[in-house]
Amino acid sequence: WMREADVWDGLRSHLNPKLWQLLETAAQAAQERGWQLYLVGGAVRDVLRGMQSPQETEVVLTDIDLVVDGFHQSATVGAGVELATVLQERFAGARLDVHGAFQTAALLWHNDPVFDSLWLDIATARTEFYPYPAANPEVEASSIRQDLYRRDFTINALAIRLTTPRQGKLLDFFGGVLDLQRGWVRVLHANSFIEDPTRIFRAVRFAVRFGFEIEPETERFIRHAIASGVYERSRSLNPRTPALQARLKSELKYLLQASYWPRALRELDRLGALQCLHPQLRLTRELWRRLQLMDRGLRRFENWHHLSHWRMLLEVLLSQVEMGDGEFSRAAVAQQLQLPEETVQRLATLGERCERLQGGLKLARRPSEVVQVLEGEELAGLLLVALGMGRSLRRKVWQYLTEWAHVKPLLNGEDLKQLGYKPGPQFKEMLADIQAGTLDGDFGGSREAAIAFVCDRYPL
Ligand code: CTP
Repeated sequence: WMREADVWDGLRSHLNPKLWQLLETAAQAAQERGWQLYLVGGAVRDVLRGMQSPQETEVVLTDIDLVVDGFHQSATVGAGVELATVLQERFAGARLDVHGAFQTAALLWHNDPVFDSLWLDIATARTEFYPYPAANPEVEASSIRQDLYRRDFTINALAIRLTTPRQGKLLDFFGGVLDLQRGWVRVLHANSFIEDPTRIFRAVRFAVRFGFEIEPETERFIRHAIASGVYERSRSLNPRTPALQARLKSELKYLLQASYWPRALRELDRLGALQCLHPQLRLTRELWRRLQLMDRGLRRFENWHHLSHWRMLLEVLLSQVEMGDGEFSRAAVAQQLQLPEETVQRLATLGERCERLQGGLKLARRPSEVVQVLEGEELAGLLLVALGMGRSLRRKVWQYLTEWAHVKPLLNGEDLKQLGYKPGPQFKEMLADIQAGTLDGDFGGSREAAIAFVCDRYPL
């Protein structure tokens, strides 16, 4: 099934017809200019996986990478932009972005009636060489083989030629097809993780997502990269590291928002890779318990749905490390990862908040006293603190969040006016008393009892 014609037919039959048309148009435009055009990366991997699977289902692609290789035919680094412009004219509705230094053109269709959400990248074949470890790739025009060689794993380093001659030719320089068949995530060379530490997280992502194994030698390279302190270097004051940290954050986001996040974290821990976030971070039973609690809560309670699920899991991870100081404090790590200021602040004040709330809750017996301690606390911060509390205190927080915080007092200001009280400074105190009595069940849920209480306590 690896013959050119078969690959070509496989591609056509597994893609949505509109997408196929898009690729054909791009291929024709490249052909007219004497360039070669390749489909590369995840799209090839996913189509080949689709062809291996017994069901004839359409492979849904939301992200397509094309590479123009025409270096010897005088294609310039602007070739991607030129092809993208042709496609933008032919298929309406796309926004065109050009990534300056790398000369990659991206076409984006967003909620499009034809393409739904589609991201099409067109690059010019290039070698990305790394001037020093953990730096960002720099560009130099080169051929397709080198373009593929700079990629992360063999299963992502496959290409299908879309132009003639040999349309449908599968380029597999590194054994990617075999690795797809045996279910291996394997790097192309020993330095891969040193050059780009985010690949450690990507290896885990692909392994867990596809049910693949990280190939043993690749695992050794991962462990070696971690042991050699690649993440510490990436954190140092190198001016290029913000970009690396941003990519690390997006890999973390990808992992933590996937349904397979528990398996991914276990695998990262097994590899010792959580240390890339913080040297002390281990997936202990306690951390595991907290993550599960947070996950369940976030899924269960609708009024928690505005919290970002992946970010809360990450905050649970980071809240687990000792306060520390300097570059390894929780807040500093969050800042390096360019998490929002809100998260950084929450982690920075976690210790203080923990003490204050625990102390208050220990003394609070009645529901109204619990409400008094917790009222006004921001939800996310409260959740992080609650996860670290013992059962009985945590139960109070839970009850507060799910019940007590939503209790309406049996009487309101309007009711008091009707009873003949004049609005004034005392009103606030009266309402607080009614609220407390309602919460503590003093009125047995009866308005009459509440009225009797007010009249008795505050004679007119
Ligand atoms: N890539 C890489 N190293 C990275 C990130 C990306 O080599 N640190 C390469 C891989 O070859 C990958 C391609 O860039 O196939 C595109 O990256 P991305 O869109 O993140 O991955 P996909 O393989 O398309 O995976 P997905 O299906 O999850 O989008």
